[in-house]
Amino acid sequence: MHFELSEEHLMIQQAARDFAQNELKPGVIERDELQKFPTEQVKKMGELGFLGMMVDPKYGGGGMDTISYVLAMEEISKVDASCSVIMSVNNSLVCWGLEQFGNEEQKQKYLVPLAKGEQIGAFCLSEPEAGSDATSQRTTAIDMGDHYLLNGTKNWITNGGSASTYLVIAQTDADKGHKGINALIVEKGMPGFIIGAKENKLGIRASDTHTLMFQDVKVPKANRIGEDGFGFKFAMKTLTGGRIGIASQALGIASGAYELALAYSKERKAFGKAISQHQAIAFKLADMATQIEAARLLCLKAAWLKDIHGDYALASSMAKLYASKVAMDTTVEAVQVHGGYGFVKEYHVERLMRDAKITQIYEGTSEVQKIVISRTVLG
Ligand code: CAA
Repeated sequence: MHFELSEEHLMIQQAARDFAQNELKPGVIERDELQKFPTEQVKKMGELGFLGMMVDPKYGGGGMDTISYVLAMEEISKVDASCSVIMSVNNSLVCWGLEQFGNEEQKQKYLVPLAKGEQIGAFCLSEPEAGSDATSQRTTAIDMGDHYLLNGTKNWITNGGSASTYLVIAQTDADKGHKGINALIVEKGMPGFIIGAKENKLGIRASDTHTLMFQDVKVPKANRIGEDGFGFKFAMKTLTGGRIGIASQALGIASGAYELALAYSKERKAFGKAISQHQAIAFKLADMATQIEAARLLCLKAAWLKDIHGDYALASSMAKLYASKVAMDTTVEAVQVHGGYGFVKEYHVERLMRDAKITQIYEGTSEVQKIVISRTVLG
């Protein structure tokens, strides 16, 4: 066991840090306030290879490991969690799912432009009545011979308006329960596919989260991922990796807030000295630093297990459960360290506090992670 990053990891971390500080930080407050999708920034992320980091270069990706992905996610999330959720969904849920389980034709047609960042993708599982209870899919994909007839509504879909390729989970045979669910590749513009309302959110406000409607959408059989009935396992396996991405997003939100609080505490004076010299603040910083380091180690362990093809389901749920709690706790404390300045937008920590909350909800709530963890520890 050794805890050192390689030269290549350090280079990727530095590249992501430079990109986030130079390209994402300017305008991040305005994009959040106006809920403005970061079109230019996402284009640059694609050009720099951040949207298909782990995809094999033969499909247009960066061929990097999951540890590199965690490092880049942390740096980008420190500054702009809206950009990092776009990045995480594209890398972990859409590209990974297609590369692992798609056939060659699907990879050439859909994965290549997604991995190159020329397009972005969306992962459509959640429904008005199927969030944590993912087996209860009401969206139907009826087998019509050469195509599926897709009907239903999906909720809270990240990249819902801006994506070109949508991986949609739907029920084909209700009698078979989760074994009757399929995953279909749906293209924007297919007749009957309607992009509904954009959500007005507490955090990650520059990312576009939409309701999607499917009304008699004819999806060719060739667009089904894997065997008939593989859709639920496809979703679960894909989300298992996705949780490493969101854990890393939470880690970045926490470490971004911590770095701001640390710097501020050295500048701000009260009672004749820097507030960092007061134990009340110094101890907060000590707690933040310790919890962030523990969250980072959980993220890196889950990534390492994935890279060595180990079983990473437990580790990814633990990383997400813990890192998202650390994100919430750290950002609340970072606002406190900033006092009144923490409550205004220019100091960034209030945005990070709002952004942190979603990391305890999407890609499986904290309660879902506890289901996964407790089932494993209880055998
Ligand atoms: N990997 C592979 N297979 C898995 C699996 C995994 N991680 N988890 C479950 N399965 C398999 C099981 O082995 C089982 O298969 P068999 O019947 O062949 O044995 C099958 O799937 C059903 O499993 P369960 O009985 O455990 O299923 P369950 O209904 O009890 O659900 C759950 C378990 C963990 C709660 C699951 O429903 C879940 O993860 N829910 C949360 C869904 C979620 O994360 N939604 C997020 C939406 S996407 C999103 O947020 C993206 C975004 O925009 C940011």
